[in-house]
Parts: sequence; structure tokens; C-alpha cells
Amino acid sequence: MDIANFKDRFCKLYGDGEVRTFFSPSRVNLIGEHIDYNGGYVLPCALEMGTFGCVRGRSDRKIRLASENFDLKVEVNIDELEYEVDHGWTNYPKGVIYYMKESGYKVSGMDILVYGNIPNGAGLSSSASLELLVAEMINNLFNDGDISKLELVKISQRAENDFVGVKCGIMDQFAVAMGRVYKAMLLDCDSLKYRYINMNIKDYKLVIMNTKKRRELNDSKYNERRDECEKALSIINKYKYIDNLCQLSLDGYLEVEKYIDEEYIRNRARHVICENQRVLKACEALENEDIFQLGQLFIESHNSLRDLYEVTGMELDTIVQAAIAQKGCIGARMTGAGFGGCAIALVEKKSVDNFINRVGEIYNRKIGYKAEFYLTGIGDGTREI
Ligand code: GLA
Repeated sequence: MDIANFKDRFCKLYGDGEVRTFFSPSRVNLIGEHIDYNGGYVLPCALEMGTFGCVRGRSDRKIRLASENFDLKVEVNIDELEYEVDHGWTNYPKGVIYYMKESGYKVSGMDILVYGNIPNGAGLSSSASLELLVAEMINNLFNDGDISKLELVKISQRAENDFVGVKCGIMDQFAVAMGRVYKAMLLDCDSLKYRYINMNIKDYKLVIMNTKKRRELNDSKYNERRDECEKALSIINKYKYIDNLCQLSLDGYLEVEKYIDEEYIRNRARHVICENQRVLKACEALENEDIFQLGQLFIESHNSLRDLYEVTGMELDTIVQAAIAQKGCIGARMTGAGFGGCAIALVEKKSVDNFINRVGEIYNRKIGYKAEFYLTGIGDGTREI
């Protein structure tokens, strides 16, 4: 990204003057899917792909939003922010601005231009990337950078939950804000304690495979899965008090499983509890540089998301199956919310080219359109550049 050029384009659009530039990454989750909102452990990392933004403060209450990825430009007043379907991508920044103001932080007018190189709708958290970008802009422009990262994470999650209406957990916003180059983060979504783990996968590469089946959280069954987990929790709570499903061990769960009548609710709960255990095992495997074990856990996780949580679908299952059938691939799984979007695979460095060709071919033949593959590195969290 040529930043000087980007700033020029900003000035062409909004006029000359001082411009500040920010970057906010996308993320992948290595393992721990659909358990952030159940108080579980997740293991995401921030990527080098992300959203760039130029901004200039204004002395009035006007917010002007433009993107190089979409034609839609929007102009709104800070004191009249509301979710509007026609406002498309700008609802995310609007939501962040709304909750920054509501939380008592200083906010003034702004002219903003963004450009993202995250494939849109791929489930790599372009929305969290954009939210944190705008939160960090407000933090630096009007609040001397004094607002903690965790607070920016919570405000961004709130914007998505209550302004846009997607009941996502905290993982994406957290990973985007706190990411570190070459590191994965083990985050306990209950206590929000976290630590970094070296992403030392030796002779392997993390290949991101985009099914190109768009995954819109809003359209998906994401909120339905959350409700199903809440249902399981409320039944279990009649017999055993827990704050969230991830507080149960598998043995603890098996004692109460019989009280849940519907099979699909039992399946959801079982996925959550076993996935939580897998995250800790994956973390241990990564720390011991046991990449083979990590790959096995990827496969188990995918199978559970397919059979018990039912959030994969034909495209993700096809790409993961094609991936693990290839020489040099020791594991693959869907990542993010599912129902489309991306999967990840651990592939021996020397086999990567061949892997991409073969999986691409099989996918195209079975699904009828092309998948995309990315070899992006692991990068730092949201920052001014
Ligand atoms: C989406 C949500 C996250 C998380 C994942 C599934 O990415 O935004 O909070 O629930 O799905 O693990």
C-alpha cells in the first residue's frame, strides 16, 4: 500500500490539509469456534491483510465516510446516528462513533476514507477491522490515545451487537486490536485474560482458503446458534449452576446431558464443551511445536462443526476434504462463523504450490466456481501508521 498516494486521494476527495493514517488488520481463528460467546478459549491471530484509513478532524458535527471498495458515500451528523439499511458498510463506523460518544468519550466531526484489502464477506472479520480502525482514530484524534485497547474492543463489539444487530462474541474485535506479529493469542473469553503464543509452525505454512461463498453474519444462522446455546445453558442450570457452557468438563456435561430432550441442542452443547478442550490441547501442541497434533485437532474441530454444530455447508466441507486429501497437508478446518467464508490448512512449505493447484481444481470441479488462496502473514493489531 502506497500511503503517500492514499493520502493524495484523500485530499482530492476532501481538500488539502493535515491527514492521519491508520491500519487495522483482519483475523483468522486457529481453533475454538463458536465458543467465544459461551465463555470459552479461542486461539486467533491478526493478519497482515486489513483496512487502511485516512482521517481528518472537523470542527463541526459532520461525519463524511467514503471507501475505495464501495461506491456508497455517506454524510451524517454525530448527533443523529441511526442504523440505516441503505447505509451499508458505513453502519459499522456509525455504530462505533455512536457508542464512543455514549460512553462519554470526546468525538467531533471527521472526514474518513478507507481502503481494505480483506476479501469482503470472506469471514476474515472485515467488519471488526473497520470498527477498530474508527475506534482508534477517535482515540488518537480526540482523546490523546488514552482509551485502553480493551475499552475500544468492547465499544466495537457493542456497535456490532446493538447498532448493526449481530450478536457476535468478543473474539474478532479482540484479535484485531491486540494482534501481534508472528503470534497467536490464547484468549479466555470469560475472564478476558490472554497470552501470546509463538506461531512457530516450522516447515509448514498456514494457507487460507476462501470458498467465495459469501457469509453475511446477518443472513446466517449465527444468532440462532447463540439462542440454542442459551437454551442448553438454561436447561442445565436447573440441575447444576454454571455461568456458561464452557465451565463444564465433558464428564460434568455427561451427567446432565440426559435432561436435554432435543438431540440438536445436545449436539450444540457437546461441540462447545469439546471444542473448548481442543483449544487448550492445540495451544499445548503449538508450544511444543507438535504441528502434526495441531493438524489433527483442526480436523476434529471441523468434523464437530460439521456434524454437531452444523455450521459448515457444502462449500466448506468440500474445500476441507480436498485439502486434507493432499500430500503435505496435515490438517484443515473452517474458520470464523462458518456457512461459507474461509477455511485454513496446515501445509508443508514445499507442497504449497501443488496443494493450491490441486485443491483449486477439485473445488472448481465440484462447486462450479473458483476458490481463492492467501498466504498472508501474521501481523500486529490496529495502529496509527
Ligand atoms: C464470528 C463472530 C465471533 C465468533 C465466530 C465463531 O466471527 O464474530 O465472535 O463467534 O464467528 O467462532
